[in-house]
Amino acid sequence: MQPIEGFSVLVTGGGSGLGAAVARHMAARGARVTICGRRAERLAAVARDIGPNCHAEPGDIARAGDRARIVAAALAHGGGLQGLVNAAANMLQGEITALEEARLLDILHVNVVAGMMMTGLCVPHLARDGGAVVFFGSVHARRSFPRASPYAASKGAVEVLARVLAAELGPKGIRVNCIIPGAVPTEINVRAGLATPESNLARLKSMEEDHPLGRIGRPEEIAEAVDYLLRAQWTTGAALVVDGGLSLGMSRK
Ligand SMILES: NC(=O)c1ccc[n+]([C@@H]2O[C@H](COP(=O)([O-])OP(=O)(O)OC[C@H]3O[C@@H](n4cnc5c(N)ncnc54)[C@H](OP(=O)(O)O)[C@@H]3O)[C@@H](O)[C@H]2O)c1
Repeated sequence: MQPIEGFSVLVTGGGSGLGAAVARHMAARGARVTICGRRAERLAAVARDIGPNCHAEPGDIARAGDRARIVAAALAHGGGLQGLVNAAANMLQGEITALEEARLLDILHVNVVAGMMMTGLCVPHLARDGGAVVFFGSVHARRSFPRASPYAASKGAVEVLARVLAAELGPKGIRVNCIIPGAVPTEINVRAGLATPESNLARLKSMEEDHPLGRIGRPEEIAEAVDYLLRAQWTTGAALVVDGGLSLGMSRK
């Protein structure tokens, strides 16, 4: 494993949920972490809470100018760049007959295109230092949930993308992997209007019987797996499923 001390990593979507858990995990172990997201105050509070190893750089990854500033900030804070974690994403659900093209394009732009552009921007810096990219896929691309086609399509694209980029960037010494989380309580469903902050946990917990291991996940369990993918030096092109078995399609009922 690559040493974590002094490891510099940029985490998009690091102001909440799984991105924040990755940032906290890596910074606590000695990495220099930069987090980005659109809500500046929220982002700054998370960075303050994590401590001096974490820098908050607000911005929208769908905008080219913001992406350039975010990467420059990560290079300055970390003194280089060894890792990029593409965690930022949004959720959109709806029946195929009712999808609005503009909203569909927005989701695909943030979940797929912006992550690709961010990766392209980081590659020259990662190549100099050696490094790794982790994309966030989803169990939605492995198991079919009705009315989730926009999000599932974006996550399927991300999973394929990680495999293709692993082949493309391997000769440059850059590893590319994909984490496939299952159900973990975060605010993604709340932000999409699919749950209230009060009903969110109950909504996810109602799926517990669909997990062979009998429970939903914890953010730290995803962070540990991302840490592995960032630093395991002979792992590339992998899709690491961390979902309590949800994608296996079995019910405990
Ligand atoms: N939680 C789960 O059960 C689960 C399961 C499978 C996969 N995932 C994946 O895990 C990743 C993290 O999601 P999460 O569950 O932790 O949800 P989350 O808490 O909602 O995190 C998503 C983050 O992305 C940021 N973001 C969204 N659009 C952005 C943009 N245009 N520019 C910059 N940042 C943006 C959001 O911050 P701002 O709104 O402040 O920009 C937010 O902090 C996502 O890729 C998600 O698809 C989650």
